[in-house]
Amino acid sequence: MSAAVRVGAVSDLPTDRGVRVEWDDHRVALFRIGDDVYAIGDRCSHAEASLAEGLVFDGAVECPRHGAEFDLGTGAAGSLPATTPVPVYTVTIDDGDVFLTPPTVPTSEES
Ligand code: FES
Repeated sequence: MSAAVRVGAVSDLPTDRGVRVEWDDHRVALFRIGDDVYAIGDRCSHAEASLAEGLVFDGAVECPRHGAEFDLGTGAAGSLPATTPVPVYTVTIDDGDVFLTPPTVPTSEES
């Protein structure tokens, strides 16, 4: 299992838009909703647009390029044209800092 990586402080995350973070081969879209933080693969599974630039509503993000929706909790594609989920990173908050643990199965984010 991969080690958790600190990506910043909860207080630094905006609540009105996503933020993209990158390390090694990972490119992750972070979203803060209230006191909760969600982290999914940033590359849309349809054509790799940045999901961090999408609109967030009802626990989902809408891809800014063609409008597919992805659940922030499960990564599932909820509408066309995307049909494949994006990876979900485990979020741990410790003393106000956000740590991400990559998915345990290989994903397109890691290729
Ligand atoms: S690139 Fe995201 S729906 Fe096409």
